[in-house]
Amino acid sequence: MDWISICIAVVTAGLALLLWLKPSRPKNSPPGPPAIPMFGSFHFFAKQPHIALLKTKEKYGDTYMIHVGRRPVVILSNYNTVKKVFGDDLVSGRDNESYIRYDASTLAESGLIFSEGDLWKTHRRFALSTLRDLGMGKNWLEDTIIGEVDAIIQRIRGTNKTPFNPKVQLTNSVSNVICALIFGQRFSLDDPNFSQLTNLITENIASLPYDQIALTLPFLMWFPNPIRAQIMSARNNLAKLNVFMSARIEEHKSADRRTDVEDYLHAYQTEKETGNKTDKAAQATFDETQLLASLFDLFAAGTETTSTTTLWAFVFMVEYPHIMRKVQEEIDSTVGREKMLTNSDRALLPYTEAVILEVQRCASLVPLGAPHRARDEITVDGYTIPKNAIIFANLFSIHRDPRWWKNPEIFDPERFLDGNGKLTRPDGFAPFSVGKRACLGEALAKMELFLFIANLLRCFTLELPKGKTISHDDYISSVVNSPKPYELIFVPR
Ligand code: HEM
Repeated sequence: MDWISICIAVVTAGLALLLWLKPSRPKNSPPGPPAIPMFGSFHFFAKQPHIALLKTKEKYGDTYMIHVGRRPVVILSNYNTVKKVFGDDLVSGRDNESYIRYDASTLAESGLIFSEGDLWKTHRRFALSTLRDLGMGKNWLEDTIIGEVDAIIQRIRGTNKTPFNPKVQLTNSVSNVICALIFGQRFSLDDPNFSQLTNLITENIASLPYDQIALTLPFLMWFPNPIRAQIMSARNNLAKLNVFMSARIEEHKSADRRTDVEDYLHAYQTEKETGNKTDKAAQATFDETQLLASLFDLFAAGTETTSTTTLWAFVFMVEYPHIMRKVQEEIDSTVGREKMLTNSDRALLPYTEAVILEVQRCASLVPLGAPHRARDEITVDGYTIPKNAIIFANLFSIHRDPRWWKNPEIFDPERFLDGNGKLTRPDGFAPFSVGKRACLGEALAKMELFLFIANLLRCFTLELPKGKTISHDDYISSVVNSPKPYELIFVPR
């Protein structure tokens, strides 16, 4: 063979390999940007993937397809489409490809967030009904939240108007509510071990985008590098959190069984033994792995989300002091400044509620929701979505959609009030996502957000330390968008 023939053979083989590596775009798939062989698209490498994806929508429309590595990923940006598609059981699958949660030891495919099919249905139903039962009767849940609100108020009073970053104590306070619900325990707001534990959740949420990068470039897991280091550290954090959860399970095994179910762990053990809420086959799935993963999911999902939304609320209140004043005036003139606000006061404070909703819209805390997986081929907006495609709803894009929101960039709580000052919930609002896998903790989160935010604004006026600035545009983008760390002065009222 001469040199020319060798060159032609090499180039042809190279091209064939590239074509083979190029992610395929089956017939009638949604449109989307061209994919780079092997890598696909780099949207998840962007500093703010939800904004990169919003820009791609402007070119390709509400429903489009990109690739992460060779995997097809569909992005939905129209609220009506998301509502329809996420209401379909075929789209209730989860993306279980992960380098962090990758086998039974890391609780892959179990628990509430990552399970699928009958296992997910049984345990979601059980979790919803148990959380509802725990929240009912004797106002136990409300009293628990108010106890935590009171603790954080006292802690902040102790700062004596010196600049204070409320993140750690606020996160611990919110986490205490979920700890009380799931294993009937609370921790001191300044407990260093507990702070370390809640910080592991923060770290793991921050490391999730690295998982997407490793899924795009799997060879990064073959040798030491910063992405691999993040993933290994997240696995390590998971192991530590599992040790903590396992210890709580062991404690409950040895604790006296009371007749009333007073926390999730007891309810779970009772269900495992009696099968009261499930049939025989489902009862068999109430095992230790599923328990550990469910506790882990409730702890993680219930901690970071509500506390970070409250941190966002503080940012907006400092940026718009006239809105903070209006909230305080509403509280002062209806319920009064002295009394702890309770859930029954919500109806009296529509403006305060509207502010919380507007914070949720503008912050879009979980900008891309959680990934879903098509469990079979489906049709969306006339396009064919292949089986196993990953589907994201760009909730950030929905909250900025001018079809639903006038001047979407502007922070304006009035958009949640009607002409009579009554609260309205316009379509196009989906901070908890929608459909079959919508947030399981929505009712709890709403109650917590009101009790924490309204009571903190009742007790304090928020100010920036001299010479400091703050902006809601300055945030850390991840699976959860969070404001950059800040200090505030809490002036008692
Ligand atoms: C402001 C607070 C919160 C926000 C914005 C929020 C948002 C979300 C979102 C966007 C999802 C993904 C839904 C989907 O896949 O389509 C989700 C799922 C979930 N959330 Fe929340 N969440 C919050 C608070 C909570 C709390 C307090 C809990 C704990 C009780 C919780 C437990 C869960 C669970 C277990 C799931 C998975 C549901 C499933 O896969 O079936 N969340 N949440």
